[in-house]
Parts: sequence; structure tokens; C-alpha cells
Amino acid sequence: MKILSKLKQGELEIILLRDKKIPKNLSKTEKEILRIRHYEGEGCCFLEESRKVFVGVESCDYPFPNALRDALASAIGMIQKLNIKSLSLQVESQKEAKEVCEGILLGSYGFDTFKSKKNKSELKEIYLHSTKVEQTKLEAIIKESKIISDSVNKVRELINTPPMIATPKYVADFAQKTAKDSGFECKIYDEKFLENEKMGAFLAVAKASVNKPYLVHLSYKPKGAKGEKLPKIALVGKGLTYDSGGLSLKPGDYMTTMKADKSGACAVIGILESVAKLGIPMEVHGILGLAENMIGGNAYKPDDILIARNQKSIEVRNTDAEGRLVLADCLSFASDLKPDFLIDLATLTGACVVALGDYSTGIMGYNQKLKEEFSKAAFEAGELSGILPFNPYLRKLFNSEVADLCNIPSSRYGSAISAGMFLGEFVEKSLIQKWLHLDIAGPAYVEKAWGVNPFGASGAGVRSVVQFILNQVK
Ligand code: BES
Ligand code: ZN
Ligand code: ZN
Repeated sequence: MKILSKLKQGELEIILLRDKKIPKNLSKTEKEILRIRHYEGEGCCFLEESRKVFVGVESCDYPFPNALRDALASAIGMIQKLNIKSLSLQVESQKEAKEVCEGILLGSYGFDTFKSKKNKSELKEIYLHSTKVEQTKLEAIIKESKIISDSVNKVRELINTPPMIATPKYVADFAQKTAKDSGFECKIYDEKFLENEKMGAFLAVAKASVNKPYLVHLSYKPKGAKGEKLPKIALVGKGLTYDSGGLSLKPGDYMTTMKADKSGACAVIGILESVAKLGIPMEVHGILGLAENMIGGNAYKPDDILIARNQKSIEVRNTDAEGRLVLADCLSFASDLKPDFLIDLATLTGACVVALGDYSTGIMGYNQKLKEEFSKAAFEAGELSGILPFNPYLRKLFNSEVADLCNIPSSRYGSAISAGMFLGEFVEKSLIQKWLHLDIAGPAYVEKAWGVNPFGASGAGVRSVVQFILNQVK
């Protein structure tokens, strides 16, 4: 499906009803149809005769950024079922143009790869018009939205791919192909490398699986104008292609959806793809910790004591708190890159979902200004988030009697935060103010459609981080 800024009329015209207000200049018949259908601006209404679709848009009050995106996503779902090839609509501002494009492009994805009957649609072209936004600006917005939305959809597809296919090797190869196609570098490191790096925590998690672990290092290094040094950001993604819980096995009901425990790593692939395609002047690194948390005769055990890459010892009390072990070594590795920003993305804790609900990302870290800056970027990008505050009392909860740290806190309360603070122990001290932890356990995978997101993977984090990076170079 293409969005074009051509001044062409589509087979159907979308009329946006801002604040759900019905336009005044309707024909008598149109008014009559709306009256019969009891339509008062809620949802969509298709007027066959005049070839119009009315799309009601909720008033866009703070703190909800998504009224227009959500309205378009639901309208496009309905329109795709009609047998039409083209569509046109008017926008009033640059902001509206961006939101409309994202609503359409994100709202039209569905995971049907394994269905015999595909969600086919005839809709090929959408003409975006505006009397208020310059043509060149409109084109630039369409291009940027398309790049970012395509990355989000690609990430969704990868996360949705079942774990029998999407093993650590598969995700690593996927990253490599994406890198090749979009013009950035990709290095894939195997178990031997992890051993040489003394990544004892990462290796332990991966031990019982027949699918071997990989650490992937993606890098996008554009040339600065006249050799100037560009700001550098390192992103770290939790890539558990399956989290059975290990010996601390998850109960059946909690194990389903754990193919999505690779969402952080997949998001990092998508972010690099977008950044490279947009040609953003910033050096961006992606570190993916890819492994499977399984059971077996050689599985790591509760009571084991692991030595992480930064030499800290970790008492294992629950093998299901595995993400933080993989990330511990990846954060230490990423610290060596000496970035100006260090951000990890992880489906880290169920507790974050309890705290914020299914739809919001938990933002954590030691730098208040940075957390607020990120939260603003997320809002601009149309993703929901909430800042969860660290404190020294929660930090104490993972003290261990037998090692430097324990991999689970001694109290369940606040365990999204304590897990975040555990990660902070593996960020090099000089970088601690430059680090953010994003817990995407809630929004990464939801078993119902919401807003611009279909059932399943949402691609959470991609839009927010790309926006954060864009804001750095503005
Ligand atoms: N991958 C899970 C967290 C998760 C839960 C992601 C729900 C998405 C949805 C993580 O590895 C995990 O199992 N965490 C445990 C930690 C506990 C053992 C301290 C949890 O949250 O229950
Ligand atoms: Zn787990
Ligand atoms: Zn996990």
C-alpha cells in the first residue's frame, strides 16, 4: 500500500470528524442517512452514495497522544474489507499528516503468515492532501512515517514468528540480512566468543538449549560532515527467543506468549533499520543477547553462583529471572563502546505489567532529565510510557548472603524497579547517568488488538527510540 501526496481523488474520501463533530455542509440525503443510522461521530460511517467515509476522532486531550492514529487504524481495518483500490483524505497540519500515515500503515498489519486464508485487500493507493502543509513537507513526512512504520511491521512479524523457527540463530541471520539491505554492519558472535569474554551469566541461561546463543553487534556509523564526531548511542535488546522459565519452570498459562521474550532484541534491529534508512547523523550500536531459556540435564540451577563479565558474582535463586542475567553481560559489553547514551529494551518483568498495565513501557534509570526526555519522545511517537522511580531501599532487596548480588529480590513488591536496579549494577559506573532501562513486558505483546496494534506483537519501543534519536540531532 502506497501513501502519495498526489492531488488525485480516490474512489473513496475519508472525512475526519475532529472532536467527533459532524460537518455542517452535508447534503440533505447525507443528513438523512446519518439520522437513520444514529451516527453521531463515534467510529466510522460509510456513505455509499457520496463515496465518503466519516471517521470520528476523539478530542486529543493530554495525556493521550493517539486519537487520530487510532481512528485511522480502525477505519483502515473497515475500508480494507471494501472492494476499493484508492482513497483520499485532507490533513490540516504536519502533525496530523504524520499521525494519519502511521495510523494507516501500522493499522493495516496483521499476522496471517500461517493462515491458509490471508487478509487480502485491494487498497493500493492513498492520496494525502493539504491546503496547509507544503507539498515537499508532506512528501518528507510520508517518507519518514513509511520507513518507521515498515520497520515496526517487520519487527512485529519477527516477534510473532513461532519459536520453533525464530531461534537465536534465525534472529541473528535476520539481523544480518536487515543490515545488508539497509547499509549498516552486523557481527555475529557465537558461544566461543561469549566464553572468551567471560560472559558467565549469559552463558548459564543458554546452557540447556539445543539452540545455541549468539551475541549480535549491529553498528551504523555515518560520516560526520568534515570529519566531526557524531554522538553515539548504544542499544541493548533482550532476545530470549523462548523463555520457558528454565528449571524454575513457568506454569503453562504463563509460558504461552514467551516467544515474545525476544521483543527487545527485535526492536533494536528495527530501530537500526529505520535510523540507517533515514540517514540520521548519529552513531548507533545495537547489542542483541540471543538465547533460549530451557530445561535439561545441564541446565543452570537455583543455587548456582555465576560470574558475570564485569566480575560480579550472582546467586541464582530463580532461573526464570534470566533476562537480567543475559542483559548484565550485554550491558557490560555495550559499556565498552563508551556511548553518549545507553538504552536497554527488555520484556523484563511481569511486575511492570502489574504496575503500568498492558499498554505502557516502564522507563527507569538514574537520570531524571533523561527519563523525562525519553518519555516526551515516546509521547511524540505515539507510544505510552510511565517513569518508575529507583530508590536505595529497593536496591538492597537483591543483596545476597553468598554472592555480590542475587538474581531475584527478597520482596515481590516493586520488582519491576528492583530488576531495573539489578541491571544498573552492570552498567559501567561512568555511564550510569547516560543509561535508561525500558521494560516493554506490557506493550510488546498483547493478546488483543489495541489502537494501531493488532493481536500479538506491537513492535513496542521502535517508534519511541527512533524519535528520541531524531530529537538528539534536531
Ligand atoms: N520474560 C519474563 C517477564 C515477562 C512476563 C515478560 C510477562 C512478558 C510478560 C521474565 O523473564 C520473567 O520471567 N520474570 C519473572 C521474574 C521473577 C522470577 C523474579 C517475573 O516477572 O515473574
Ligand atoms: Zn523468565
Ligand atoms: Zn524472560
